[in-house]
Amino acid sequence: MTEKTDLDHIAERIRPTKITHDYFRYYWIHFGNRRHTVRSLLEIGVQSGRSLKVWREFFPNATICGLDYDPGCARLNADGFAVEIGDSRNPAVARAALERFGRTSFDIIIDDGAHHPQAQIGTFRTWFPHLAEGGVYVVEDVAQFSRYDRVDALDAFSELIYGINHVPDGSTDWHALTTLEGVANPFVRQIVGISFYRYLIFIEKGRNPEDNRYLADPAFNRLDLEAQREAGGTAPPTPSDWRGWRNLSAHLGRRLGSSFIPRDIRRPRLGGSLLRAVARRLGL
Ligand SMILES: C[S@@+](CC[C@H](N)C(=O)[O-])C[C@H]1O[C@@H](n2cnc3c(N)ncnc32)[C@H](O)[C@@H]1O
Repeated sequence: MTEKTDLDHIAERIRPTKITHDYFRYYWIHFGNRRHTVRSLLEIGVQSGRSLKVWREFFPNATICGLDYDPGCARLNADGFAVEIGDSRNPAVARAALERFGRTSFDIIIDDGAHHPQAQIGTFRTWFPHLAEGGVYVVEDVAQFSRYDRVDALDAFSELIYGINHVPDGSTDWHALTTLEGVANPFVRQIVGISFYRYLIFIEKGRNPEDNRYLADPAFNRLDLEAQREAGGTAPPTPSDWRGWRNLSAHLGRRLGSSFIPRDIRRPRLGGSLLRAVARRLGL
């Protein structure tokens, strides 16, 4: 049992519904050290307004905004919050909301709205561009609901991981890759990390790979090779070595009637499933 944090104490007093999933444990991991630097937060899905109250207390320097398609949530404007009414997927609603809030981006955006895979993906596409550089986008209640079996949000968000770790074909030096420009989906070029918890995802916005502070510095970006030399070992394999191994093992596999490709160097199997195809058509 971990010790209760300041955020847990606030949440236990205000009691928003998300407390039942123990999400604040993970919110603390990601936001505990940003408490005083976060300036703006948007929560999609307002309902009673309890979670907005938690955020207002936890982030003393932040403007707290909300978006919900239930017109009744407009009552929270009288309580000092800025709440816009509309569908979170709709870009026109997003434009109107940003104009009303008087801003172009937020440090944190939390989707606690529809909890439906298609809406979670659509909302991400609409709102992620309005997340500030260095900001965090959170999706709550992402689960494998069999009743929504046509699109799987878990599949769509987890596939971003492969884009983030993309090495373009023909690149011989993944250590020194200085840009993914022109080779990968624009979302993944703006994501530096994704954390998955049970039903909960945190997506961190940044420039991939340009945010690596040591990338452009020759004093640091070859240290791995130097360390290998010092240790008297061989240089780490490059993707072209892997490709060679993959070709050889595929060849042997064909001859022996089975695949020899070790799972850890095999490219993810992206095709094949209708769910994945639909998610990709949605651009994720
Ligand atoms: C789980 S409740 C939000 C709970 C609140 N965040 C809390 O913790 O106290 C979900 C809310 O999302 C709203 N909602 C559902 N789909 C939406 C959509 N597509 N756009 C905007 N709001 C939506 C619902 O009206 C409902 O008020």
